[in-house]
Amino acid sequence: MSVTIAQLQKLKQQKKPITALTASDYAIAKLLDKAGVDMILVGDSLAMVTLGYKNTLPVTLDAMIHHAQAVGRGVENAFLIVDMPFLSYQVSTEEAMRSAGRIFKETDARGIKLEGGYPDMVTTIHKLVQAGMPVMGHVGLTPQSVHRIGYRVQGSTPDAAAEILHQSKALVEAGIFALLLENIPAELATQITKLIPVPTIGIGAGQGCDGQILVTHDVLGLSDWQPPFANKYVDLNSIITEAVKQYCQDVRKPKN
Ligand code: KIV
Repeated sequence: MSVTIAQLQKLKQQKKPITALTASDYAIAKLLDKAGVDMILVGDSLAMVTLGYKNTLPVTLDAMIHHAQAVGRGVENAFLIVDMPFLSYQVSTEEAMRSAGRIFKETDARGIKLEGGYPDMVTTIHKLVQAGMPVMGHVGLTPQSVHRIGYRVQGSTPDAAAEILHQSKALVEAGIFALLLENIPAELATQITKLIPVPTIGIGAGQGCDGQILVTHDVLGLSDWQPPFANKYVDLNSIITEAVKQYCQDVRKPKN
């Protein structure tokens, strides 16, 4: 049975951790779904791990939809969320509505995620939610702002922490169903998790969140680089290289 927003909410209330991972293609999505992950995010990190760009900025709405369609074909149970890419929602609320509408019309997404907090995103998120589109917020390290903030931990001074807390509360007011907390101190993530009524999903934000998300390429050992907080559960890089070497050897074997 498909995971619903109500079930994610219930997991928070029952203090049962929510599991989330990213996917950008059919085969991996199918495996994640079969393994029982609660949420699958078609993250714009696919720009880097799948498409080979240096950051998430170049990926287009068309490309996100293309990948989300493939992922959707592999998902039966998990709650499917699609990231809104850079500049598909920041220019105006109208453009955000059109971009988000395309994601819901053209893919099996049941939620969208967009980066940023108060004041910029509050009106936009409110409008999207009013139009029936579930939105997950994303605060802390927001990779679409890499040229402004880099990939540093966010919220490490009292003022910066208060600002992230303020943004989180404003996003809840705007109607988000969940909030992604990226690369912020564990104590701050725990505090936000206790104060807001919607599930928090952390990445590099300690164990106090309602759930955890990682980029699947990091978990499987397929990334060129991985952040210190990302546990590698298998080294597919070595396994695949060995398998391909073996295949090449077999093909090149002299025929008798
Ligand atoms: O794009 C992405 O993969 C993300 C991560 C923070 C999970 O948003």
